[in-house]
Amino acid sequence: MERKDFIEKVGMGGAALLVMGCFGSCTKSDGGGGSSPNPNPSKPVDFTINISNSPFNVLQNNGGFYVDTANNVIIAKTTSGMLIAVSSLCTHQSVTLEFQGNNNRFYCPGHGSNFSTAGTVLNGPAASPLKVFKTALSGSLLRIYE
Ligand code: FES
Repeated sequence: MERKDFIEKVGMGGAALLVMGCFGSCTKSDGGGGSSPNPNPSKPVDFTINISNSPFNVLQNNGGFYVDTANNVIIAKTTSGMLIAVSSLCTHQSVTLEFQGNNNRFYCPGHGSNFSTAGTVLNGPAASPLKVFKTALSGSLLRIYE
């Protein structure tokens, strides 16, 4: 085999390996699929609070919100009186969110991202939406689950 032929064949093989290596690592999801970190992925979020009792009674007022740090969920009462729950960790760098009742949106004090009440990104730097949880109110008991 001529030296030139050898270099061409090895060169093609090397290029193929580089391409294959990139497919392996370049196609992995970086978590942009819309879910936020779950502290215990094997256990779905499912808990109940009594909104008549402190500290949850802030949810009786439109614009009020409560952050459940055990489950990383923020629960808010929108300006129209709906009780909603989303992941409390910003999808940018996991800073804990707040609910701005006057603007009816979730705000990240980390770098200023805003999310709608449906969890969609209104402005970045966050690029991924928040995970949304279901809520069910029975009397004063509010269940938050997925
Ligand atoms: S951590 Fe929320 S915008 Fe950066």
